[in-house]
Amino acid sequence: MVAVRPVYRAKQFFRAFRRRDVHAFVAVAQAYLSPSQLALFKQMSPYDQEHAVDVLTRLRRQGWRDAELMQAALLHDVGKAFVRSSLWRRVAHVLLWAAGDTRVRDGYARHADVGAEAAERAGSPPQVVALIRRHHAPLPLPPRDRLDDWLIALHIVDEMA
Ligand SMILES: [Fe+2]
Ligand SMILES: [Fe+2]
Repeated sequence: MVAVRPVYRAKQFFRAFRRRDVHAFVAVAQAYLSPSQLALFKQMSPYDQEHAVDVLTRLRRQGWRDAELMQAALLHDVGKAFVRSSLWRRVAHVLLWAAGDTRVRDGYARHADVGAEAAERAGSPPQVVALIRRHHAPLPLPPRDRLDDWLIALHIVDEMA
């Protein structure tokens, strides 16, 4: 999976320039999020909103229906809305990170913690906050509980979306 990630991220980069219908993304999100969570979702870029809905859709196709996992799918990258990171630094970060090089350390690297804190302030359940905080952490293998199952599912789908 690591070998294909740079190519995959490059495709993501070029998709960033496509026009998007954010009303459609919000319409999906409001079926799963509280009003305060939805307000957070709306602060995400159109690109990140589309990615979040893609993650949600892929999880549902796999049969997942848990409310906490659905909320985490929609908000897992919300921290990106609050950290300073140029597009070029973000691309460099993910490409070097995929290659095992962590030299580029900017706001992007903190988006999981920042997003978890924002989700917590918005009244999200503790499991949702934990999923957001840990969505780039090493996989909990073997899984010990339901939260670990959700984290693994989110992590895998996030890599594909
Ligand atoms: Fe992320
Ligand atoms: Fe993501």
